[in-house]
Amino acid sequence: METHKKLVLGIFGFGVVGEGLYKVLNQTPSLNASIKKVGIKNSSKKRNAPTELFTANKEILLNDPEINVIVELIDDADAAFEIVKTAFLNGKSVVSANKKMIAEHLPELLELQQQTGTSFLYEAACCASIPVIRNLEEYYDNDLLHSINAVVNGSTNYILTKMFEEKLSFKNALIQAQQLGFAESNPALDVEGYDALNKWTFLLTHAYGILPKKGEISFTGIQSITSEDALQAAKKDCVIKLVAYAKKLNNGKVAAFVLPQFVKKEDQLAFIKNEYNGVVIESSFADKQFFYGKGAGSLPTASAVLSDISALRYGYKYEYKKLYHHQPNELTNDFYVKTYIGFTDWSHIRKDDFESIEEWHSNEQINYLVGIIHFKKLQESDWWKKNNVSLILTADPIIESLDIVKLKKRSLVLAGFSGGHGLS
Ligand code: HSE
Repeated sequence: METHKKLVLGIFGFGVVGEGLYKVLNQTPSLNASIKKVGIKNSSKKRNAPTELFTANKEILLNDPEINVIVELIDDADAAFEIVKTAFLNGKSVVSANKKMIAEHLPELLELQQQTGTSFLYEAACCASIPVIRNLEEYYDNDLLHSINAVVNGSTNYILTKMFEEKLSFKNALIQAQQLGFAESNPALDVEGYDALNKWTFLLTHAYGILPKKGEISFTGIQSITSEDALQAAKKDCVIKLVAYAKKLNNGKVAAFVLPQFVKKEDQLAFIKNEYNGVVIESSFADKQFFYGKGAGSLPTASAVLSDISALRYGYKYEYKKLYHHQPNELTNDFYVKTYIGFTDWSHIRKDDFESIEEWHSNEQINYLVGIIHFKKLQESDWWKKNNVSLILTADPIIESLDIVKLKKRSLVLAGFSGGHGLS
């Protein structure tokens, strides 16, 4: 696209983000972008914009030669992919906020971009208002990026904040997150970690050139976390966050997952409250950097969509540098994690999976253990996702060296810890 070409937009979807974008565009006349049509599913619904703007016929937008940018903001990931595919093939640039669609179709979307040479931007799809994709693309060289830790789902962070700081019930906190427009239309996607996983899937592509396969990234959400877990976190001077984690290990491979974690109160991630998101990047020489901003909601998400639309004026494209121009990194599950496990019944825990168990408390009030487990074992089993078991990684959870683990295990056995508690 030529520099400062007039952008004629066809927008799909007029929900929380679509309507937000309409408002934001109306307040940004300098952008030189006009909305020609908005494609919607239900044309009889009353909306806060002129009726003639809307159509339920998607072909009107996709086949209009004047529309040079399709902005895809619908809920249904499969329908969104069909729209985006046709838009590419018709030579239109695309801006999307659809994390599920991007995570599920990334290889095809990459191929379509290469085939058609069109721009596809989706900054709003991860961490909404925080410009994290463009920073990972443009700023951080592959070799220098040590780790990324992030809170990427606003709804779960909102629920955890309200539950543990304001003593709201899980149900009421979720209702608030829904009313404020943060939650997905199916909130299980937030609560059970799917939304964070989707975002992490393509962020790993921009950070490390990794294209994770389905099932390759272990994840869970906050569905099993209890106030007892929060109490134990507080005793350890921590809070609980759903953390999306990636770290380059000494063997050069990348450990990545999305799991609840104890976060030290002085850690940057602990500072992220409510629907805010945050990303802590550690790289050589620069040390730690912290990006922080609203991760959900109408206008913050629309602001990122607006920024992508604006970037199209000068023909900006993601180059996927880490994937195409560097040696892409590989994922590994060959490492250990130290984890807290809250449970209601000891029989729900597969104790043989642990290399060592450092703490174990089981009585009327408190039931938890802290132990070290090989990540491959965790990945291959699902007992920790069932029966109200809450797996929460400890702060700084990764242990790379087997020797240290073995040494610890031996010292525990020598101290009679494991036998004394009937664990061996
Ligand atoms: N449901 C998502 C969240 C919306 O809560 O983060 C923003 O992607």
